[in-house]
Amino acid sequence: MKTLIRNAMVVLPDAVERINVLIEGGRIASIGAPDFATADDVIDADGLHLLPGLIDDQVHFREPGLTHKEDLHSATRACAKGGVTSFLEMPNTKPTTTTLQALEEKLVLAAQKCHVNFGFYIGATPHNLIELQTATRTPGIKIFIGSSTGDLLVDDQAALERIFAETTLPICAHCEDEATVKANAARLNGGRDVADHSLIRDHQAALIATKRAVELAERHRHRFHVLHVSTAAEVEFLRGTSDLITAEACPHHLFFNVNDYARLGTLIQMNPSIKSSADNEAVWRGLLDGTLEVVATDHAPHTREEKQQPYPKSPSGLPAVENYLALLLNEVNRGRCTLSQIASWTSAAPARIWNIQGKGHIREGYDADLVLVDLNQTQTILDENQLTKCGWSPWHGESLTGWPIRTWVMGRTVFVDGKVVDGVRGEEIKFRHEHL
Ligand code: DOR
Repeated sequence: MKTLIRNAMVVLPDAVERINVLIEGGRIASIGAPDFATADDVIDADGLHLLPGLIDDQVHFREPGLTHKEDLHSATRACAKGGVTSFLEMPNTKPTTTTLQALEEKLVLAAQKCHVNFGFYIGATPHNLIELQTATRTPGIKIFIGSSTGDLLVDDQAALERIFAETTLPICAHCEDEATVKANAARLNGGRDVADHSLIRDHQAALIATKRAVELAERHRHRFHVLHVSTAAEVEFLRGTSDLITAEACPHHLFFNVNDYARLGTLIQMNPSIKSSADNEAVWRGLLDGTLEVVATDHAPHTREEKQQPYPKSPSGLPAVENYLALLLNEVNRGRCTLSQIASWTSAAPARIWNIQGKGHIREGYDADLVLVDLNQTQTILDENQLTKCGWSPWHGESLTGWPIRTWVMGRTVFVDGKVVDGVRGEEIKFRHEHL
């Protein structure tokens, strides 16, 4: 099967060019193919832009064990719609992905159910060093240095030292300081209003844990990725760290702040908590100056009923995979960033950081994971149109200009004409870790 995409403005590694792209055998066969190149399917993409498919390196897809919120089928249909062609999923499922067996079981399930390409982190516990040392079919190790949804937590310094000293896979972490969070919660009697969430999981909690993890990584010379940076102080601190350290931002820390609690309540309750508008601006600045290299969603669905429980019973997390590209494209139209920056934050950088082979760029020989976007299309996000199983979006009612209109996974269309094309399966992502 050959597909020719003609006349798109193609976001290449170093330029945006009007050039034809030929797909064959699941790969990008040629860039700059002639107009008359023969193909089974010819798409005239005049006026549209072609981006490398998004690699969302931080999602919670809830399978196994929590499938009333989401599962690999519903989540990856949402990915297809959102232009996300690959995901790396977190280990706080039930059971947790903290053994090789649980990892392999997830991979088997994923091969049956995923509409896009998949990878799964192995979660750290204080006691699973051997698993962390021997896992290969994984992007890396996830540590919850502060607790969040689920019961994964490694807070003990000796256990953290062992993980950083005695493993070689890249590590990423949820950085909120457990002791600070607990002390704040005690002071506020557990909190009565969702706005207290940002006082309990406060700026200090984030900064202390990020500094602690970075110190460990630098001392042990270990590759380390800071997930979901939420504060100006962390961005400032990360400016001075070594090449071993990379970091990322999430849409909710770019687009929501504490003033939004009045309107959205627990729908925007997240860990790390959302912070101030000054923090939004600082996280944006961090992205624009290269201090933060990745934008990923932290897609963390919970049912509406779960979210509607009074704080602090309400769980933290919100869904985002199907809207985050549109949220960013809307910012291109507002002049805040460029398409090339989006391609870097959502595809090239995660591919590089997690040693992903054959993805991250539109380049000959690379996998044909692609998303065609229309920068002029305006749509309003509506709960009733969401494909995520939880069926709501914190951006409900938001009108955005710039939307994905067609998505290919390994050369096969998975989303077109506003609909998911069921029947296509993604592939297991291959990682080229240096020690393996
Ligand atoms: O808000 C969050 N929800 N943060 C996390 O780290 C986990 C996530 C979830 O799994 O619900």
